[in-house]
Parts: sequence; C-alpha cells; structure tokens
Amino acid sequence: MNRIRCDQTPAWGQLRAAFDATGRAFDVRGAFAADPGRFEAFSQSAPHVFADLSKNRIDAATEQLLLTLAQQTGLQAHRDAMFAGEKINTTEGRQVMHWLLRNPPVALTEKPASALQNVASELPQVHTTLDAMLAYADAVRADDAITDVVNIGIGGSDLGPQMAVLALDAFAVPGKRFHFVSNVDGHELAAVLNKLRPQSTLFLIASKTFTTLETMTNAHSAKDWFEANGGRDIARHFAALTTNVAAAKAFGISTTFGFWDWVGGRYSVWSAIGLPLAIAIGSQGFRQFLAGAHDMDEHFRSAPLARNLPVRLGLLDVWYRNFHGFTSRSVAPYHAALKRYPAYLQQLEMESNGKRVDATGAALPFSTAPVVWGEPGTNGQHAYFQMLHQGTDVVPVEFVAVKTPRHQLGEHHDQLLANALAQAQALMLGKADQGGHKHFTGNRPSTFLLLDDLSPTTLGALIALQEHRVFVSGSVWGINSFDQWGVELGKVLAKDVVQRLASGDVTGLDASTAGLLARLRA
Ligand code: F6P
Repeated sequence: MNRIRCDQTPAWGQLRAAFDATGRAFDVRGAFAADPGRFEAFSQSAPHVFADLSKNRIDAATEQLLLTLAQQTGLQAHRDAMFAGEKINTTEGRQVMHWLLRNPPVALTEKPASALQNVASELPQVHTTLDAMLAYADAVRADDAITDVVNIGIGGSDLGPQMAVLALDAFAVPGKRFHFVSNVDGHELAAVLNKLRPQSTLFLIASKTFTTLETMTNAHSAKDWFEANGGRDIARHFAALTTNVAAAKAFGISTTFGFWDWVGGRYSVWSAIGLPLAIAIGSQGFRQFLAGAHDMDEHFRSAPLARNLPVRLGLLDVWYRNFHGFTSRSVAPYHAALKRYPAYLQQLEMESNGKRVDATGAALPFSTAPVVWGEPGTNGQHAYFQMLHQGTDVVPVEFVAVKTPRHQLGEHHDQLLANALAQAQALMLGKADQGGHKHFTGNRPSTFLLLDDLSPTTLGALIALQEHRVFVSGSVWGINSFDQWGVELGKVLAKDVVQRLASGDVTGLDASTAGLLARLRA
C-alpha cells in the first residue's frame, strides 16, 4: 500500500504556517473565552470512554489541518490494511492482527467486506485457542489447591497482564495471589519463591519467542526450585504461553497455549499471554475485556476521522511533538489500581514509535515518540507535579478518572476526583503573582479521559484506544510501529559481556566497559 510520509504532504507545510501564525501563541483560556461551545467541540464519547480534549492547545482550524494531514498520508488505507490482514509490519514481513483476538466468532462472516477474506481463515483457530485457554483458566480458578500464580515473562509478556490483573483486582477470584517475575535480577524471583510452596503454585512461562534470556533464566530457576523442593508434577504446575510451542515442550512443559506471529509482544495481552488475567477475572470477565476492546476497534475502523477518538488523540500527539516540540507526555491515572498503566503505555508508545527511520529505512527529519511517564494520582502531585505546573518544559498531561468507585469508603472518591479536576484546572488556568515563585503561567495542556467504572469492558476499551492512537501517530510519521530492532544490539552485547565477566578477557573492549568489568571482577 502507498504510504506518504507526513513531511511530504501539503498539509505539513500548512501546519507549520498555522503554528507560526497562531499555534505557538495559542492560549487555551482565550479559546474558552472566545468560544462557549469549545467543550462540546473538543470532547466526545467513544465506546466506554469519554474524552475531553478541550484543554489542549488546539483549535478547529488546526484540527481540520491535522485531519487533512491524516488523509494525505493515507492513514485510512493504512488502518484498513491492518484490518484486512496485510503485512504492514514490513521489516518482519508480518500481519498485524492483535485486534482479531477480540473479534467475536461470527462477526467476520457477517461482514461482506472482501478485505476481510485474508483474516477470516484465522478466526476459527483464534476462538479454539481462546476457548481452551479460558476453560483452563476457569479450572485453575476452581482449584483451591492452587493459591499462587506466578507469571514469568518480560516486556509485553509481563506488562500487559500485570497492568490488567492489578487494574481489575476488584473482580479477582478470592484466595489466589498473583505474582509477576520479569527481571533477570535473581532478587526478584528469590523474593517471590520465598513465599511459595511447590504444591500450591502454578508457574506460567510467558514468552512469545520462548528464547528471551530473562524469561528463560527465570523459568529454569523456577523449575529447579520446584524440583528441589519436592515438586513433581510439571504438567500440573507449569504452563507455557508462547508461539514457540516446540521450545516449550523441549523445556519440559506439556501444558501450552499458543498464539501467532501476527500478535506483537506489546499487543499480546489479548492472547494466551492474558492467561493470568483470565485466571483472575474468569472466562466471562476476560470475554468482557475482549468485547470492550472490540467496541473500540469498531469505532476506530468506522467512525469518521473527525469523530474518531484514536485519530484525534494520535493527531494531537503529532501536533505536540512536531510543532510545539513537546518531548514527553505524562499519564496520570487517578485510580490506584492503574498503578502499572504508565509502565504499560511506555512500552506501547516507545517501543512502537521510538524510531528514527521511516518504514523504507530512510532517516527521519522530524521527531517521533515522546517519552511517556507517570504515576497514579494523587501521588504524582506530591512528587513531580511541581515541574508540570512551574517547570521550564511544557508537558501535556493525560488524566484518566473513573466515575464510580468499587469501595464504600466515605469521601475518598470525591476527594480523588476533585484532585484530578483541580490539577487539570490549575495547569490550564495558572495564577498570576508578582513575586515569581508563586506565579503559575497556566496554558499547560491536558486531556481528560473518563470511564464510568473500571471494569473488564472499560479497561479493554481504554487499552485498545491507546493501541490505536499509537497506530495513528506512527502511521502519520511513516514508520513501522510493529517492529523493535532497537532492543537487539544490547541483547547481543550482553551475551559477549557475560562470557567476559567469567573469563576476565577485556581484549578489544572500549576502555570504559573494560574498566567497569575489571572492578566488578576485583
Ligand atoms: O525486548 C523486546 C521484546 O521483544 C518485546 O517486544 C517483548 O514484549 C519482550 O521482548 C518479550 O519477548 P518474549 O515474549 O518473546 O519473551
């Protein structure tokens, strides 16, 4: 398919001119004063998520230009190519079909679109695997002898299920503890193992490739610990979640749940990698999680660009990164259970769009992924919000708030929501003060995402929204958002360094690495 990079479109130059004319000096407070309909124009409902974009440095004319930019880059055709199962992950020659994992079993055949022929053949095996995995999850839930579930995986094989299990703790089966071990640092695994007994533990070895060094090291140590402490029945106490079922079998695991190379690691929580979540919230809950995401898929696939929330968010990201020059986005989930949501989004955005060449390999003359970071509110307020309000850099903030809490504790929730609203308000309004130190410039942009409650359905929709907004900015930038070559070099070098650590051989090493290695061996 024909993709045109953003900087090669007429709209790019027009956006530059618009930024110079009005964008740079744009003041959100003035925009509200001038337009009583601003909140309505810049807020919208998408499935399970309400979004207020009105506190951003954007006006209707700029958004129109951004939409034109999207059209000129071929965003719709690129999106449709993904949903048609074309190999849009060009550097790995793969389809990009994590969305198919959330597709109900019948909907594809109901659709006349010939474009879906490529993928219709995959759907039955998606559902066969899903049904088997969910039956297993329900059996584990019902098995009172299993009290501890340990997920061993890293990156997408850790962050997605970990984020979601924590987020949906209110829906979790009582009597089971969930542990996530990702780091090759033995302190992490040892601390978990210290709390466990082999006969009541289920280890899930989660690795798309089943070759990742950290995961394999942890998996071997877990198996050694299990056997050394009297564990015998590997088939009952170990399961593997992987596309490489043969390697899992060779490792000695017979209980395996597969998925496919068209599911990227950071997009894999919807696959067998979601098993910890399925055990926690049950098959029904997991199906709701998928259904919420599917609702967002349909919105992304079919809503007009101007009322398409992933498109609007992704284009705002481009506006901020490439015209305002903002280097990061802070995410502020005002819900303690969304503790790992910022870490999850870091991988999603920065591994997908942290690229310096376009899909053809040509160097890019503009910036791509921002740094994504954050902590749950209100904790962040008492740590780094000082910088957000008065620092020299402008950092757009993306709030997430949940209308209805799951606890019954008095006034906590009103306090929480009031703080979220007040922070967004303070960032925008600022406060004049002659003295300097107490002056708040204001005009600091934020987006506010609002969920009715935090449930499997709404979490699924929120995560799919984020996946698609990353698709949008990556598409406009002309990059391949679905590979991750940048993580390879360090892996290769570590293999060499680990041998040198043992042997002490520093021949050919740079002086710094050689010096550090010598100190470590001394
Ligand atoms: O470090 C890169 C990466 O390939 C991620 O993209 C991936 O999520 C992670 O490693 C884990 O990979 P695997 O699931 O194959 O163990």
